[in-house]
Amino acid sequence: MNIDLKTPEDISNMRIAGRLAAEVLEMIEGYVRPGISTGELDRICHKYIVEEQKAVPAPLNYNGFPKSICTSVNHVICHGIPDDQKILKSGDIINIDITVIKNGFHGDTSKMFLVGNTPEHAKRLVRITQECLYKAIELVKPGRTLGDIGHVIQEHAEAHNYSIVREYCGHGIGRVFHEDPQVLHYGKPNQGVEIKEGMTFTIEPMLNAGTRHTKLSKNDGWTVTTKDRRLSAQWEHTLAVTSAGCEILTLRSDEDL
Ligand code: MF3
Ligand code: CO
Ligand code: CO
Repeated sequence: MNIDLKTPEDISNMRIAGRLAAEVLEMIEGYVRPGISTGELDRICHKYIVEEQKAVPAPLNYNGFPKSICTSVNHVICHGIPDDQKILKSGDIINIDITVIKNGFHGDTSKMFLVGNTPEHAKRLVRITQECLYKAIELVKPGRTLGDIGHVIQEHAEAHNYSIVREYCGHGIGRVFHEDPQVLHYGKPNQGVEIKEGMTFTIEPMLNAGTRHTKLSKNDGWTVTTKDRRLSAQWEHTLAVTSAGCEILTLRSDEDL
C-alpha cells in the first residue's frame, strides 16, 4: 500500500474539484423528476461540467465506462449507466454519482434523490444511509483508524436491519481517481490503517434493504444490483484529513455539518 499525503497546495486543488462536483449535484436536483430519463440527466451534467465548469467528467471512458455520470435506480447499487430508455417514475430512488477532474485533481460525491412520492420504507433506507456517512465523517481525525470508520457504518446499518455491501468501498483520491487506501464500510474499531493529516479519501457506504450480496451485469459489465432485487442506497463525500478532524471537500449548501 502506498498512501499519498497531499500538500496544502494539492488540497487547495482538491477543494476546487470537490466544490465543482458538489455543484453538479446542486444543479441537477431540479431535473430529477418523474418522466425524465437517466440518459437526459447524463447529458445535462456532461454539458454543465464541460461548458460551464471547464472541467472533465472522470467516469467517461474510465476503464471503458460509456457515460459521464453514474445513475443507480432502486435495486441498482452503483455504476448504473445512464440510458435514454430508463425513465424515472414516481416512487423511485436514484443515486447520482459525480466525479470531476479540474487542474488534474478529482472530486467525487454522490447523493440520493427521491422521485415524486416515495414510500416510507425507501425514505428510511435513504436516511439511515446518509446517517452512516455522517457518523463516519464525524469520527475522522488523525490517530483514528479506517477500521473505526467501517465499524461505525456497519453498527448503524445493522442496528436498523440493513446490510452493507462489501465488494465496493471508498478510496484514496487525488490526481488518481481510485488510489490507496481502500476504505471499507464494515470493520472493527482500532484496526487497519491509521488516519493521518493530509490524507484525502472518499467514504461512500452502500446499504441494502435485504441481502448484502451483489450481482454484476453480464450484459454491460458495469451495473451492480442487489442479488434479491430489493432496494439499495448510497451517499458519498470526498474528505481531506486536517490536524483536528477533516474538511468535507464536496459539501453542498443543503448540508450543515
Ligand atoms: N464515482 C464512483 C466512485 O465513487 C466510481 C465510478 S467509476 C465509473 O468511486 F467508471 F463507473 F464511472
Ligand atoms: Co468514489
Ligand atoms: Co463516486
